Amino acid sequence: MCGIVGFIGKKRAAPVLAKNLKKLEYRGYDSAGIATLAKGSFHLLRCAGPVAGLRGGGMLAGTCGIGHTRWATHGAPSEENAHPHIYGRFAVVHNGIIENYHALKEECEKRGEAFSSQTDSEVIAHLLERYYMGELLEALRAVCARLRGSYALAVMCANEPETIALAREKSPLIAGYSDGGTVCASDIPAVAKQGAELYAIEDGECAVMKKERITFYGMGGGEIDKSPLAFDPETEAPYRCGFPHFMKKEMAEIPAVLKAARPNLGDFRYEAFYEALCRAEHLQIAACGTAYHAGLAAKFAFESLARVRTEVSVASEYRYCDPIVPDGTLMLAISQSGETADTIAAARLAKERGAKVVAIVNAESSSLAALADYVIPVRAGREIAVAATKTFNAQLAALYSIAASLAEYRKKRGYGDVLAQLPGLAEAALAAGEGVRSWVPYFVGASSVYFIGRGADYVAALEGCLKLKEISYLPSEGYPAGELKHGTLALVEKNTPVVAVLTSRRLAEKMMSAIEEVRARGAKVFLITSLCEYAVAEGVTLSVVVPECGEIFSPALSVIPLQQLAYYVSIARGNNPDKPRNLAKSVTVE
Ligand code: G6P
Repeated sequence: MCGIVGFIGKKRAAPVLAKNLKKLEYRGYDSAGIATLAKGSFHLLRCAGPVAGLRGGGMLAGTCGIGHTRWATHGAPSEENAHPHIYGRFAVVHNGIIENYHALKEECEKRGEAFSSQTDSEVIAHLLERYYMGELLEALRAVCARLRGSYALAVMCANEPETIALAREKSPLIAGYSDGGTVCASDIPAVAKQGAELYAIEDGECAVMKKERITFYGMGGGEIDKSPLAFDPETEAPYRCGFPHFMKKEMAEIPAVLKAARPNLGDFRYEAFYEALCRAEHLQIAACGTAYHAGLAAKFAFESLARVRTEVSVASEYRYCDPIVPDGTLMLAISQSGETADTIAAARLAKERGAKVVAIVNAESSSLAALADYVIPVRAGREIAVAATKTFNAQLAALYSIAASLAEYRKKRGYGDVLAQLPGLAEAALAAGEGVRSWVPYFVGASSVYFIGRGADYVAALEGCLKLKEISYLPSEGYPAGELKHGTLALVEKNTPVVAVLTSRRLAEKMMSAIEEVRARGAKVFLITSLCEYAVAEGVTLSVVVPECGEIFSPALSVIPLQQLAYYVSIARGNNPDKPRNLAKSVTVE
């Protein structure tokens, strides 16, 4: 992960860099740093922790500089490991992982070079110093030829005033004109402004930023012409709009998002996708984290409504399990950011093995979208809180909608007009979900929490569990209710909170037996249900009733109170729900 920025203009670079870096903190906030170049010397400021720690950074001299906000991979999140790394005449910021850095570092050390950090990135500055023959871009090209792994790089050379060289391989990077100068960044919101003109740098490309102009090149060859990226500065701008946290704001947006996310497959833009969908004989889904849970939920819709066999894999497993990709496979790669390295790799592998790839993404100008055969944007708008909320609901709305169209085409099960009603029902779920505030005292000091459900309710339980873990740091486990007795039950003690999700009438009796099992071991049971009669069942400590929308689509609503629970428990435990420790929103490393 990590976020990188660069700026060359007429004004001081440091304040611009700090401001832009702040907007990339969703990519990591273990440490931050800025280096500027003025009159042939570097000025460096770094800190452990988030960008706010760069006090006095605005005073750094120079109108040209680079900056970094880090999610630590190699080396502790300390000041000495913070980027930029300076060696000799070079300053470097890097997002990605240099897989062969051990060998490269050893090579440098044999030449008598001393390292001042434990990072994999510092070696890049050392190599630049070795390969520099008077032209920064050529040195960077030579260095990139030695690197294995992933990188987005912005580098400066003390000998070359007002110049930043850029290179990209498997980590996102954009560059363009904004803030009255030239800019680069890991992602659009850092530099999106009215009037900005931004370009995506693709894998295997490099660029040179000067004060007035950016030139893009192929890594081995000549200049490249690019078209500017389309973006809306309004929606890219990260504002909390009066909400105490981005997570709260983003949950409040769920009803609107459920409406916007459903693609109109009758539209000519989706014609090719719709044809591929109807032709598909198998579906494979690969994704990570919350997006993986959206895939699990979608499997119920695709199999139950459209009767198409659907396999769902964690992307990091799919890519290493030598997957069988039968003829007629459509791979749905789901990713909010479209930059998750494992999801991209899984999609690429499926494509190599003959599948057509559909990217279900929130970020339309992402690497995953670029490699896919078809793109379905979920249109949830920018999500800033690290823990995904509205984008999960958006992914579900898009996937359910696709499954419903396929079911219609195959003349399989009908689904009524439930999907059109989801936005309104989500409003009601949000209001009811506020009831979880009374649950918080039972969770705040718990040593562990269990989430149970069956069928699609199990998927909601998994996502609720992930949310709680991520932002409250309470050890939690999501389990299929029927499987409890084969292990997890041993962990249930007096007063252990167990959250049960029950929206399936078909499975209600079975769920109630599981609830009895945990209650008999002393657990306190908290129920999210759409079946009113169970809300007051014996043995249920507290409950929240969400609207009924049918078993298959139920995770889109039952997850809402679970997201709210995680949010309120996180706050009660003194955490910042928007910035969980050790995590980042976009995981662009393996
Ligand atoms: C990270 C985030 C999760 C997210 C996952 C997949 O782990 O913290 O919230 O679900 O990445 O991200 P993607 O952008 O591919 O949906």
